[in-house]
Amino acid sequence: MSEAHGKPEEGAEVPAVPGEADHSGLLPRPAHDRNVSPVIESAMSRAVLVTGAASGMGWAIAKRFAAAGDRVAILDKATAGIAEKLKEELDGTGHVVVQADLVDSDAVLKAVDSAAEQLGGLDVLVNNAGVFTLHPITEVSYEVWQQHWQSTLGPNLIGAANVTWCAVRHMKERGGRIINVSSRGAFRGEPEAPAYGASKAGLNAFGQSLALALAPHGISVSTVAPGFVRTPMAKPYLEAPGGDAIRAQSPFGRVGEPDEIAAAVFYLASDKAGWASGAVLDLNGASYLRT
Ligand SMILES: NC(=O)c1ccc[n+]([C@@H]2O[C@H](COP(=O)([O-])OP(=O)(O)OC[C@H]3O[C@@H](n4cnc5c(N)ncnc54)[C@H](O)[C@@H]3O)[C@@H](O)[C@H]2O)c1
Repeated sequence: MSEAHGKPEEGAEVPAVPGEADHSGLLPRPAHDRNVSPVIESAMSRAVLVTGAASGMGWAIAKRFAAAGDRVAILDKATAGIAEKLKEELDGTGHVVVQADLVDSDAVLKAVDSAAEQLGGLDVLVNNAGVFTLHPITEVSYEVWQQHWQSTLGPNLIGAANVTWCAVRHMKERGGRIINVSSRGAFRGEPEAPAYGASKAGLNAFGQSLALALAPHGISVSTVAPGFVRTPMAKPYLEAPGGDAIRAQSPFGRVGEPDEIAAAVFYLASDKAGWASGAVLDLNGASYLRT
């Protein structure tokens, strides 16, 4: 073994790490080859699928990848006018728009396959689409309560899981990156939107389970957990009388900008970030600190 370079010789056995679960039986690739995606490791244009990219953070994420020369598929339920916006505002060429509501599993399968076909496979998936609605437990009827749980967990958790299943089919032979957009609310709590907090906590756990499941395929899975970000989703709250109190949650006295989240997602999709698999990265301007 050539220890100096940290790279085992061809065919050499990988020693088990003491105290760690033995996943070696799940590693079909040679040790030096695992976790490596030929496209992620190169300067080639990557095929990137971003859900919820017609608005807010997703649009900023799409722009960030396009600016780096990647080809982006925008998947959203609201795609009116997006093809034109894409041509005018995204750098580069080869970007596409696919339409699907994440709660429609058949539509998701078709849209992801269409994106992969048009982009020539998939290297990066960003599960960004999500919804946030208020349903305080003491103020809504049982019926309304159940509606909010369905309409939140549907897209935020089950939709993301379904997109991921469909995308992994196109990634498992070539490796890649999956980045989930969660929320500070998973940790801080969402007293008026408990289904939202639960959906994002579920997304964190989902990402960590998949980090284990997909490492043998050279796919790293990580998560970002933003606090408030200046997007259409947050606009009504930031412009309401409580807006200043929201900005004061951070010692910077402001909320996040979409391109600050996009920069972190872009990093997590890079070749340098493969070892961040399983991480949940707080992006909240020190508005909520956890250890
Ligand atoms: N804005 C914030 O303060 C904030 C904070 C933390 C986390 N987040 C998360 O960031 C992500 C992006 O949020 P945003 O603020 O940019 O919101 P946004 O409302 O501006 O954009 C969300 C996008 O997702 C799409 N979408 C929603 N439901 C969908 C569905 N069922 N199928 C397909 N597309 C769907 C919408 O059409 C929209 O284009 C969400 O997951 C959100 O929960 C937002």
